[in-house]
Amino acid sequence: MKALVTGASKGIGMALVRELVHAGHEVWGIARSGDTLQSLKDELGDKFNYIAVDLVSDKGLETIVSALDEAGFFPKKVFLVAGVYSTDDETFSTQQHRQMMLDCNYTAPVKLYDLLVHRPYSPDCFVAISSIFALLPDPLNPSYAAAKRALADFFIQANGNGGIETKVVYLGPVNTAINRYAKRKKSLMAIEPTQAARFLRHLPKKTGVTHIYPFSSSVIYQILRYLPNSMYTALMNKARR
Ligand SMILES: NC(=O)c1ccc[n+]([C@@H]2O[C@H](COP(=O)([O-])OP(=O)(O)OC[C@H]3O[C@@H](n4cnc5c(N)ncnc54)[C@H](OP(=O)(O)O)[C@@H]3O)[C@@H](O)[C@H]2O)c1
Repeated sequence: MKALVTGASKGIGMALVRELVHAGHEVWGIARSGDTLQSLKDELGDKFNYIAVDLVSDKGLETIVSALDEAGFFPKKVFLVAGVYSTDDETFSTQQHRQMMLDCNYTAPVKLYDLLVHRPYSPDCFVAISSIFALLPDPLNPSYAAAKRALADFFIQANGNGGIETKVVYLGPVNTAINRYAKRKKSLMAIEPTQAARFLRHLPKKTGVTHIYPFSSSVIYQILRYLPNSMYTALMNKARR
């Protein structure tokens, strides 16, 4: 199987690239950090190729399509993993921060979908990564939650268009750099990126459009949604992202 993975230079995306390549699949990865992607290529060999571009730029998106066209690479599965939670401005209050949340977490993956479905031999499945924090209010970073909610809504609606399947995963906390708590100390509530990657590799075979992973997050979400906002916020601040 041929797959395209965005966010391939770190965290869940990088773990997914390794998981897919080790299972014998041919993978192209996308992220901005060319050096890290080259190290991943040195590790994984011919089964892995990459395009180092900024997804939040039309030029970056065009570069992806032309590089894939040039290589004659037509992915069957596309995993839209790239995302951003914090920027240099950790106050979450500037216009620039809010714009980045929307551009990277919603607009870029939707634009990439639009470009890929119009290529010959379009993919037969897109997997979009949302967050359980998109299912509930996020007073710390409302733009992140809004972008991830819009992303989920778009890919739920898109399912079946042109015969293309879409899947949406609401991930619970994962121990990666994007998770503010995990940056300092591993979160007990969080799973490892390799667990998320294993789930994502098998996901296209599962029925249903939406999935919450891991199961513990699904249970926690079902309980927390009935708490008053203030109590929910206090409990979830450590794991939130
Ligand atoms: N970790 C969690 O607790 C958690 C929970 C729920 C959902 N999620 C979602 O899971 C996904 C992966 O998160 P993660 O924890 O693996 O994060 P991460 O370790 O920070 O990785 C994010 C990836 O996205 C890429 N990326 C960010 N902005 C980009 C841009 N403008 N252009 C191209 N690539 C870009 C980064 O690469 P470069 O910096 O090299 O560009 C990196 O490879 C995200 O969508 C996140 O919202 C994570």
